[in-house]
Amino acid sequence: MTALLEVEGLEVVYGHVIRAIQGISFSVGEGKIVGLVGLNGAGKTTTVRAISGFLPTENVRITDGRIRFAGQSIARLRPYQAARLGIAFVPERDKVFDTLTVRENLEVALTATTLRGDEPGRCRRYRSIKDILDLFEALARRADQLSVFLSGGERQMLAIGACLLTAPRLLIVDEASLGLAPIMRRQVLDMLAQLNREFGLTVLIVDQDVGGVLSIADHGYILENGRVVFAGSREHLLQHGDVKEFYLGQKEDRERGYRDVKQYRRVRRWH
Ligand SMILES: Nc1ncnc2c1ncn2[C@@H]1O[C@H](COP(=O)(O)OP(=O)(O)OP(=O)(O)O)[C@@H](O)[C@H]1O
Ligand SMILES: [Mg+2]
Repeated sequence: MTALLEVEGLEVVYGHVIRAIQGISFSVGEGKIVGLVGLNGAGKTTTVRAISGFLPTENVRITDGRIRFAGQSIARLRPYQAARLGIAFVPERDKVFDTLTVRENLEVALTATTLRGDEPGRCRRYRSIKDILDLFEALARRADQLSVFLSGGERQMLAIGACLLTAPRLLIVDEASLGLAPIMRRQVLDMLAQLNREFGLTVLIVDQDVGGVLSIADHGYILENGRVVFAGSREHLLQHGDVKEFYLGQKEDRERGYRDVKQYRRVRRWH
């Protein structure tokens, strides 16, 4: 069976010279949670922006590769075209309209009802503002307040709630836990896992917190310098010595200093 989302050999260049993405391939199966993880500048945001149509309009080009969604080629779509296909995107910043109330933000999402296609696989569980306020108690308490007053976690909930109202087939969350306190981070991750478990929502989650993502993802891809350097099932990655040492901070047999790590990265010229 082909995957819901397939990215093959994606290459993205900024300003004619910076090859931010250097031939990335990965896939997201329908009904799965997949994590795209890696450190600052690894290329996570560029990758998910290319999928959701949110790359800047100037100074950046997709120079190679294919992106397929539900069997259809989708490279170079505009954001509204991707949204119509059921790709809902929560960006890492600027995810809600600050000058609107919580309720108004959700109304904006609902107004986009043309996005509600009838394709199979769409998550139609959340159809009204009340559905979202029932899901997120914290938002219900602040429904009529301006969104500028929301905390980081509440903004994340509101952005995810707005996406759910568009009956998404794939929910992409960029930096799911950025700037959140550990308890709020856990809540966001658990909520995504619950949406996946109960309603079969397919989720592509982007984060620097490899451990957090692997706690809910079926499959993970670790990016470095625009390349996939590790890929595998959650179990595979969690047991891999290098992943444990370099991304989960679990030391194996001996201490390694910063110099060793740099050397390791140089020696292991991934690909
Ligand atoms: N608009 C831009 N113009 C030029 N270079 C850019 C632009 N946006 C990103 N880059 C470069 O592309 C590379 C990948 O950036 P990207 O934002 O995709 O990484 P990321 O993995 O999302 O990082 P972070 O964890 O900090 O969000 C970086 O080297 C970055 O400097
Ligand atoms: Mg990013």
